[in-house]
Amino acid sequence: MVERSPCLGLCDQAPAAMVNDQALGSIPVGVPAAVIASKSLAKPAVVGGSLRHLTRRCGTGTTPVLATYVADGGYSALTKAIQQLTPAGVIAELKASGLVGRGGAAFPTGVKWESAANASGAEKYIVCNADESEPGTFKDRILMEDDPHAVLEGMLLAGYACGAQRGYLYVRAEYPHAQQRLAAAIAEAYAGGYLGSNLLGSKFCFEIELRSGAGAYICGEETALFESIEGKRGFPRVKPPFPTTAGLFGKPTVVNNVETLCNVPLIISAGAAAYRQHGTEKSPGSKLFCLSGDVARPGLYEVPFGVTLRTILDEMAGGVSGGTLQAVLFGGAAGAFATAAHLDVRMTFEDLRKADLPLGSGVVMVFNHTRNLRTVLEGLAHFFAEESCGKCYPCQLGTVRQHEILTRVAAGHARAGDSQLLSDVGWTMLDASLCGLGQTAATATLSAIKLWPELFAANGKAQPAHTP
Ligand SMILES: Cc1cc2nc3c(=O)[nH]c(=O)nc-3n(C[C@H](O)[C@H](O)[C@H](O)COP(=O)(O)O)c2cc1C
Ligand code: SF4
Repeated sequence: MVERSPCLGLCDQAPAAMVNDQALGSIPVGVPAAVIASKSLAKPAVVGGSLRHLTRRCGTGTTPVLATYVADGGYSALTKAIQQLTPAGVIAELKASGLVGRGGAAFPTGVKWESAANASGAEKYIVCNADESEPGTFKDRILMEDDPHAVLEGMLLAGYACGAQRGYLYVRAEYPHAQQRLAAAIAEAYAGGYLGSNLLGSKFCFEIELRSGAGAYICGEETALFESIEGKRGFPRVKPPFPTTAGLFGKPTVVNNVETLCNVPLIISAGAAAYRQHGTEKSPGSKLFCLSGDVARPGLYEVPFGVTLRTILDEMAGGVSGGTLQAVLFGGAAGAFATAAHLDVRMTFEDLRKADLPLGSGVVMVFNHTRNLRTVLEGLAHFFAEESCGKCYPCQLGTVRQHEILTRVAAGHARAGDSQLLSDVGWTMLDASLCGLGQTAATATLSAIKLWPELFAANGKAQPAHTP
């Protein structure tokens, strides 16, 4: 039986299919399902870029087992931390490195860890957020599938630094392959003495439990994720209190993105100063970008902060395919549109902020001139209306109204005032929603209104393509 599927996290290899729990990319269109199921079409993702630090073990087609990981310097950061550094020393190194979270909010990781370490109570938790449901994002999947021990080592270092004895790895259900690789790595780490009690002869004990999501975008929001792990419906909590004082099971908790955690072993092994040799003063290190859509070589690209979008798109990923560049959806569905005018913006937090573009989770989704942006906007609005959890009214109602308006805009039936209505709904959601989902559900639409007001004109014809 063949069914339409929601996101499989394979935007770099569309069209994609999940066949008996095996995710397959680049499926030939029109091929009968039985043929797809009968042969393995899985192939390693394209992994490139000019600074292969985080991704140095990715894209090779093989996943390192424990022995290979250790032979390649794996778990040396954990060994160094336990044998040579105090927990406060690990946090100091992290703060000096300038690492900020890669899950979208760009919060300083060292500050977060320090807050949890200083929180009162003996029971603390580390949560790895591997929900990765932002449309266009697939970086965490590749890290987990191709370098699972690096994720575990990052969690172990967080546990050591913050005084936690238990970690949860929350992986979205649509990533069965990543879950299998992580489960195997966890078993290996227990057997090899890198998880469990009195690690490396110290008093440090740490357990990791793998948890599967159930397909809800909202469960990537950190507090909804806690609810989900606790066995409840994934509803975001009101903050404060913040997770570092009252998180999972009401205890002090550090929640970090997969890419954030994979940076930590690098920082502890080489030191903050070496880490800072790449990137800029305010955006040190490297960043993973997920390129998909109308691009010659879609894939995962690791670059030092500071390169331009033009360099990533044209020099690394082979440029726009099928036409000329119309737009780039930057940062994901919760992101904003960029155009050719933004090609020379440097990819740093500070430069992107000035250009009004969110880095988000590193999505670069490319649309050539033949794509109908009204349809794209309608699709994004549909996503948010479906995924809103309904806990607060601005988002529960706003996402549905936004979808209704964009549906008629896409059908060529825009009414006078629709643009204003979209702005009003969008700004209300942005200002009054409880969590990040509602606060960003209209950012792509608002950026499109600014860039291409003509798309929303009354009686605008339904076009097969928008030519700027
Ligand atoms: C709707 C929504 C979905 C999110 N999904 C993810 C996700 O899939 N992965 C992630 O790391 N962060 C996600 N976040 C951000 C998390 O709430 C949180 O900021 C992040 O996990 C913190 O990790 P970091 O400091 O390492 O970035 C999401 C936020 C919102 C509002
Ligand atoms: S903003 Fe949306 S997703 Fe977030 S709590 Fe409100 S209704 Fe739920």
